[in-house]
Formats: sequence, structure tokens, C-alpha cells
Amino acid sequence: MSKLIRFGVSVDDDLLKKFDEIIKNKKYENRSEAIRDLIRNLIVEEEWAKKSLNNDSIGTINLVYDHHKRDLLNKLNHIQHDYNEYIVSDTHVHLDHDNCLDVIIVRGKTNKLKEIADKLISLKGIKFGKLSIATKGKNLK
Ligand code: NI
Repeated sequence: MSKLIRFGVSVDDDLLKKFDEIIKNKKYENRSEAIRDLIRNLIVEEEWAKKSLNNDSIGTINLVYDHHKRDLLNKLNHIQHDYNEYIVSDTHVHLDHDNCLDVIIVRGKTNKLKEIADKLISLKGIKFGKLSIATKGKNLK
């Protein structure tokens, strides 16, 4: 039988305020239950993704970040060069004075695309990151 573990989380107060607002609207009784659901969703997503790891895929990675964050641009660039054979294109949009959106089109085995996305999205300073795997359309009418 598994036991209950308590752990501490450090989080920016603005971020926590927004989180609390959302979970209140979603009728969660407390943060713990909301965080447990997020963890469960992540596990389901990973399990689902594992099933298609060897498929040839095409997808996009969306990244939103503050370009002033130290070293972030360098790291983003470095990772993309490490995986250059999977990167089709990278479109950069200057959203406002601080924020940028990168839309990176990636092509290759799903596991590689996930690996690239995980490396980019987990960088400190990335405010939003999402990999969308699209279909190549061949098996669809
Ligand atoms: Ni920019």
C-alpha cells in the first residue's frame, strides 16, 4: 500500500494566486487535490505519448519567454543546433517589449520530438511551452 507523502513547493506568489483562482473556479477543495490531478494528467499524457514513440511525426513546439532572461536565447539556440536535423523551421515573433514567441516546426520520430520539446520547455525562463504532434495525414481520408 502506498503512503501519503508531503512535499514543499516554492512558487512565485503571483503564479500561486492565479492557480488558486483557477482551482477555486474548478471547485477543488484544496491545492493538494488540484496538484494530484495535474500529476495524474501528466502521467496519462506520458503513457499515451509512449505508445506512439516510434511513429514518424511532424509537430510544432510553441515557446513563450522573456528574451532578457540571462543565457536563455543562447541555450535555446544551442539545443536547436544539437537537433538541427529535426528542426524544419523556427519562427520568432516579438510579442511586446519583453516577450517572444517561437514556433518551431519539428519532424522525425515522436520520441526525438518529445526529447527536443522537453529540453526546450524545461529551460528556466520559459513561461509557456507546448509540443503539438500533428498527423502527417496519410492514414486519414
Ligand atoms: Ni523577440
